[in-house]
Amino acid sequence: MTTPAYTIDTLISAKAIAARVEDLAREIAAHFSDTEKLVVVGLLRGSFIFIADLVRELDLPVEVDFLEVSSYGNSTESSREVRILKDLRGEIEGRDVLVVEDIVDTGYTLHHVLEILRTRHPRRIEVCALLDKPSRREVEVKARWTGFEIPDKFVVGYGIDYAQRNRNLPYIGAVRFLN
Ligand code: IMP
Ligand code: MG
Repeated sequence: MTTPAYTIDTLISAKAIAARVEDLAREIAAHFSDTEKLVVVGLLRGSFIFIADLVRELDLPVEVDFLEVSSYGNSTESSREVRILKDLRGEIEGRDVLVVEDIVDTGYTLHHVLEILRTRHPRRIEVCALLDKPSRREVEVKARWTGFEIPDKFVVGYGIDYAQRNRNLPYIGAVRFLN
C-alpha cells in the first residue's frame, strides 16, 4: 500500500516532552505512594517509547507489562469493539494498575481496554495518556493524567506511527499532506 506524499511539522519538541514526562511521573508517584508495586501496562505499540521514559522517571517499585489490542480499523460496528491480540503476562487482581496510552482520540480503545481490565478486579486502575484530542471524542473516557492536549491533527513520532513509519522520531510532529 502506498501513502501519499507528506511532510512533518514539529508540534511538541523532545525537550518539552521530557519536561512533561518528569511532571507526570512526579504526580503519578505521589498518587500511588502507598502502593506496594505498581503494574504499569503499556498499550502496544504506540506507547513503547513513552512508557520507557515514564518508568525511568517513576520513583516507585514498578512491574511493566504490555497489552496489544486490535485497532477497530475499518469496522462498521458502532460499538467499535477491540480484540486482545497480546494479553498481559501477569495477574492484576487486587493490584494497582496504571494504563499507559499514546493517544486518546475517539476514546473507544481506552473505553474497551478499561472494560476488559476491570473484569479482572484490580484494586485501582488509572490511565496516563501522552496525548489527548478532546475534540474527537465519541465515547466518554478520561485519562487521569494527560501529557498534552492537541488539536485534531494526525500526529507521529515518539512511538506513534503513520503506516508503520516515524515511530522513531524523537519529537511529536503533525503530518501535512502535499499535493
Ligand atoms: P481511539 O480509539 O479513537 O481513541 O484511538 C486511539 C488509537 O488510535 C491511538 O492509541 C492510536 O493508536 C490511534 N491514533 C489516534 N490518533 C492518531 C494519530 O494522530 N496518529 C497516529 N495514531 C493515532
Ligand atoms: Mg494505540
